[in-house]
Amino acid sequence: MAEAMIKGLLHQNAIAPNHIIVSEPRKDRATFLSNSYRVTIASDNHSAVNTADMVILAVKPQVVKEVLKEISSEVTVDQLIVSIAAGIPISFITYHIGDDKRIIRAMPNTPAQVGEGAIAVCCGGSATQQDLSDAEIFFNCIGATVVINEDHMDAVTGLSGSGPAYIFLIIEALTDGGVKMGLSRDIAQSLVIRTLIGSSRMVLESGLHPGQLKDMVTSPGGTTITGLHVLETGGIRAALIDAVEAATQRSRELSQVFKP
Ligand SMILES: NC(=O)c1ccc[n+]([C@@H]2O[C@H](COP(=O)([O-])OP(=O)(O)OC[C@H]3O[C@@H](n4cnc5c(N)ncnc54)[C@H](OP(=O)(O)O)[C@@H]3O)[C@@H](O)[C@H]2O)c1
Repeated sequence: MAEAMIKGLLHQNAIAPNHIIVSEPRKDRATFLSNSYRVTIASDNHSAVNTADMVILAVKPQVVKEVLKEISSEVTVDQLIVSIAAGIPISFITYHIGDDKRIIRAMPNTPAQVGEGAIAVCCGGSATQQDLSDAEIFFNCIGATVVINEDHMDAVTGLSGSGPAYIFLIIEALTDGGVKMGLSRDIAQSLVIRTLIGSSRMVLESGLHPGQLKDMVTSPGGTTITGLHVLETGGIRAALIDAVEAATQRSRELSQVFKP
């Protein structure tokens, strides 16, 4: 995820590569990042943090505590601390580095790797509205950003965090449908992907309700209503709603261990 952010920032010319300071414990990975993106490699987390305006915590959730303890003496109120660690509440971060620090919590998703992420951000500690705006601008380099209350972070995890996997499953299943009806897998998948991208853009650009757009392609007694009837009989709507609810609930359970 950190690499996706580096790529996005550089793609947008948002920052000079050497102004991105990376702390990466694996030497081969550090060399790869340095060679690929011309970023500056710090020898450790201390030196990565002490000259930074913005500190991005992009380690696995179970490593966050160790990293916070390591950098707590370096972090100042002049720096913006941005955590993308899933399930780690802002209170956990302020507990370790102080609630006078400016904290942004964000939840990106994997399409950030291709600049099409869905990102939710919220603020805590002593973060200001300006910090929130700066975080929005920062994350817009890897997708589209929304501002939320931290209470909604588990719902975001269950929806857009886990969402790419739901969509991959739908792509795979629709492709299988095309294959069953005699199309080659390549052609079927290509048609499915274009249908998903095109339909999403229609919702985005027309401003119309998806139900209205659905009605516009559903002629009386036609093929589409016949297909839709099968989807409704299979409970697709309830299954998708239940999936988001269950994933949100699971995110709540998993984040319990990170309550300070
Ligand atoms: N991937 C996603 O879809 C996604 C979505 C939303 C949020 N997130 C969050 O993003 C964070 C990173 O996820 P990821 O998938 O990018 O994980 P990842 O690929 O494992 O990246 C974590 C990086 O942190 C490095 N690291 C480990 N210990 C460190 C330490 N003590 N100091 C500095 N760096 C250290 C790792 O190095 P090594 O490889 O050498 O261990 C690795 O390069 C997680 O907290 C996750 O919850 C991820």
